[in-house]
Amino acid sequence: MAILLAGTPLASDASDSGAQARMELGRKIFTQTAVPQCGVCHTLSHAGTTGEIGAKLEELKPDAARVATAVRDGVGVMPSYRDKLTEEQIQAVAYYVSQVTGGGKE
Ligand code: HEC
Repeated sequence: MAILLAGTPLASDASDSGAQARMELGRKIFTQTAVPQCGVCHTLSHAGTTGEIGAKLEELKPDAARVATAVRDGVGVMPSYRDKLTEEQIQAVAYYVSQVTGGGKE
């Protein structure tokens, strides 16, 4: 994971071990914990998912707040995860998606 992120101007806190753990947690939520899994609908190459129902996250480049809002409230056919994930899990997956897509940096 660190390899893929190398060369990207990351937020400075992304290099400490807490951020690393949060990235791993976020990836796991994206690919496993969330039900239905995010990757069923979303393509995200970092997570190895190829879903085509939802937005291509690498093109959208959402910042963490935008991801968290979508996950909490749902958007269109995307379900709300408010009752399925804890706030900590929502923050972790939002952080992960924004970091690997370069979201919020333009
Ligand atoms: C059942 C399919 C489905 C699942 C599962 C799903 N999404 Fe989505 N998601 C969508 C669709 C469809 C959209 C676009 C909705 C629209 O624009 O009408 C979307 C939109 C989004 C957006 C963009 C919101 C915006 O502001 O435009 C983000 C970010 C996102 N999803 C993240 C996630 C994450 C993270 C998960 C897992 C916790 C997830 N999605 C699970 C279908 C899904």
